Amino acid sequence: MTGEAKPMTVEREARIKIAVQKSGRLTDNSLGLLRRCGLNYSRAADQLICFGENMPVDVLLVRDDDIPSLIAEGVCQLGLVGLNVLLEKSVEGAGLMTARRVGDVEFGRCRLSLAVPRGMSYLGPTDLAGRRIATSYPRILSRWLAEQGIEADIVTLSGAVEIAPKLGRADLICDLVSTGSTLSANGLEEVEVILESHVVLVSGDTPVDAESAELVQRLISRIDGVVRVQEAKYIMLHAPRSALDEIKALLPGSEAPTVMPLDGIDDKVAIHAVCQENVFWETLEGLKRAGASSVLVLPVEKMLA
Ligand code: PRP
Ligand code: ZN
Repeated sequence: MTGEAKPMTVEREARIKIAVQKSGRLTDNSLGLLRRCGLNYSRAADQLICFGENMPVDVLLVRDDDIPSLIAEGVCQLGLVGLNVLLEKSVEGAGLMTARRVGDVEFGRCRLSLAVPRGMSYLGPTDLAGRRIATSYPRILSRWLAEQGIEADIVTLSGAVEIAPKLGRADLICDLVSTGSTLSANGLEEVEVILESHVVLVSGDTPVDAESAELVQRLISRIDGVVRVQEAKYIMLHAPRSALDEIKALLPGSEAPTVMPLDGIDDKVAIHAVCQENVFWETLEGLKRAGASSVLVLPVEKMLA
């Protein structure tokens, strides 16, 4: 596609595997992220392993809940998984968790929340005492309840948590909320956030050969670059010389803008800057008030620190 990595021969070459959710909220973004890292692979329907065509990196498509243990066991060297799943599977006593968090990836934002049937009163954690709470996150929930000093019954379910109150299996639930549509479709109301979650890139500490370790680092730094670039913008504008300092100060997250003369116009300069933060309309309006004109904001395609 982009062709930045040369096709390599496959014999006796180190290959690494990255685990990605097979089908769910994170799948499309995770696969898109890997493609933006320059990884080309073909994916047939129902295929569980995708062979990297231009890098010795294969993509393993699995249930997100299995990703931490696949990394801890050394089956995969990297994985993209929600912080919620990572914490749930790495709480003390889970046994096999040695995966570590290597970087935050900015998608898959969601929260693990308590939700009660509409109409049930909830004024605070003390209302949970003695209640039955259905969840697929018993470890995170029990830790949170212990912190609150509350004793409640945790009903562990592996799926369909949202219908547990209707079935009489629980009084309320603790589940992931993203858009909130699952809750409202089931007559539930979010009352307490117990964890803010997003996707993390995870690597394990199972020893690998030097070549594989180098590949892992290369993929981590490409993913870092792609994530950093998501918000980065390249700004170009014209500014009165007299307002130079004010305008530089307004450019969000830019270190050292380039300032260039404009042919035939002595009292104005051109400023080019890479801004590491999102550039909002408010910022542009502020720049304009300070005297900037001809403002252009461009996306940045690649960045390597
Ligand atoms: C979560 C959760 C809900 C849904 C909430 O499932 O269990 O079903 O997302 O999203 P909404 O607020 O946008 O309706 P997830 O995608 O994590 O799948 P899994 O629990 O089966 O892994
Ligand atoms: Zn899951």
